[in-house]
Amino acid sequence: MSQELQQLILDTLEKDGEIKDTRTIIIPGESRPASTQDAQLVIQGALNSLLSREMITYTTQDFMTYDLTPEGLQLAEEGSHEARVWAALPLTGQGKGLTVKQLQGSVGAESAKIGQGRAFKAGWIGKEGDTLVKIVTSIVDATSEELKEIKATGTLKAGEKSISELKKRKLILQRKLLWFTVNRGPNFSTSTEKPETDLTFEMLATGAWKTATFKKYNFEAEGMPTNGGALHPLLKVREEFRNIFLEMGFAEMATSQFVDSGFWNFDTLFVPQQHPARELQDTFYLSDPVESLPPVSDYYERVRKVHVEGDGRSIGYRAPWQPTESRRLLLRTHTTATSSRLLHQLANRKGGFQPVKMFSIDRVFRNEAVDATHLAEFHQVEGVVADVGLTLGDLIGFMQTFFSKMGIRNLRFKPAYNPYTEPSLEIFAFHPQLNKWVEIGNSGMFRPEMLEPMGLPPDVRALGWGLSLERPTMIRHVYGINNIRTLVGHKVSIESVERAPAVRF
Ligand code: PHE
Repeated sequence: MSQELQQLILDTLEKDGEIKDTRTIIIPGESRPASTQDAQLVIQGALNSLLSREMITYTTQDFMTYDLTPEGLQLAEEGSHEARVWAALPLTGQGKGLTVKQLQGSVGAESAKIGQGRAFKAGWIGKEGDTLVKIVTSIVDATSEELKEIKATGTLKAGEKSISELKKRKLILQRKLLWFTVNRGPNFSTSTEKPETDLTFEMLATGAWKTATFKKYNFEAEGMPTNGGALHPLLKVREEFRNIFLEMGFAEMATSQFVDSGFWNFDTLFVPQQHPARELQDTFYLSDPVESLPPVSDYYERVRKVHVEGDGRSIGYRAPWQPTESRRLLLRTHTTATSSRLLHQLANRKGGFQPVKMFSIDRVFRNEAVDATHLAEFHQVEGVVADVGLTLGDLIGFMQTFFSKMGIRNLRFKPAYNPYTEPSLEIFAFHPQLNKWVEIGNSGMFRPEMLEPMGLPPDVRALGWGLSLERPTMIRHVYGINNIRTLVGHKVSIESVERAPAVRF
């Protein structure tokens, strides 16, 4: 229908040059001119569509129109209250008049009340004793005539004064009506073909673009909402840790290797081949391929020797050594495997040993029962420092600086055990919300049984520490996370990632 209407408008413009008054249009499918407001709104829709293609221009005209209220309608049909009062009364001198009571009975209380006053004022009726009579033989019921005229034409020729009187009497309501004057626009044509919105490959290939009409850009249109990327809370916390390490002069280790061998993950760290952490229920082993390439032979041999026999000062584990255990491929259980590689490289560096401070933050895997605070994979934050003559005091000093940069100043250290460090210290911090000391990290001085087979000079000491990235992320109350599965894995909600605030230690 709107297509037909648009066509009609264009054809009329083609024929007449102008449409002065859109109320003369007969909308396709209708029988009478579009005099109602609803019809004008339909026409306006068609005009706007043509206007957007600059095929036409139009100006809006408005005028006032009036509708009868229900009471107005009634008076138009039955006569005004005063006319009805007049009609109900006998003419003076022709019998007894009506009392007010009788009049009410005849025309109703409402008409009697309003009509009496108006009929008196008009000089139509008078009093005879305590009764009412009409005193003229004919009247003109102007009110009902006016209402009839308004009902038929929407307005009154007689004009303003009567209209405002009828409005005041709540017999009519005013309504603003729109209509339009239409002229040809710059792109006028009688074709209503939709303009092109895109320049296509076909148009370029066939040359159709030369004659095609294109839809104008609408610079008022609102753009599509953009969805920017958002950083996962873990990534934000990781960035904070990185910044702390970088501030302290640490460089980042390359850790993009999830699969490692038993040799690097355990043997080089002096973890005995019979250690429970190496069992199937703690470590994920690969089924394909099962084994790594042979390890670096002379270093491998020195590692084997220190495990089985010791280094001359300690006596080793004195347990059977299996090369297959060294070559078993696994998902690394800690990033300390990378620290070990780094220290080995450092020992064999061209130009000799140089002090290092390195860190890494990356994923590790443990075969754990998954619950609210444990996953089979998590991120480890790890630091390692190697220099001549480092002491336990340096380790504690590093811990204090490192954690104080996160706002944690009150540390306690508890002796612990790691196969690769001696002494080993668990790090505790006081958690004010939980009101107790919680473990926040593990650390230690790497053992000579680990460092010497690498070929590091005997006076070089190395220290290291590690902690999980998830724990502090969960503790940060801004995230309000109490189940690790809302932080990592398929249950993470994208919205919560998008809304999560940035974290500052
Ligand atoms: N690898 C240890 C862990 O997984 C952390 C650690 C790193 C401890 C370096 C001492 C030295 O908890």
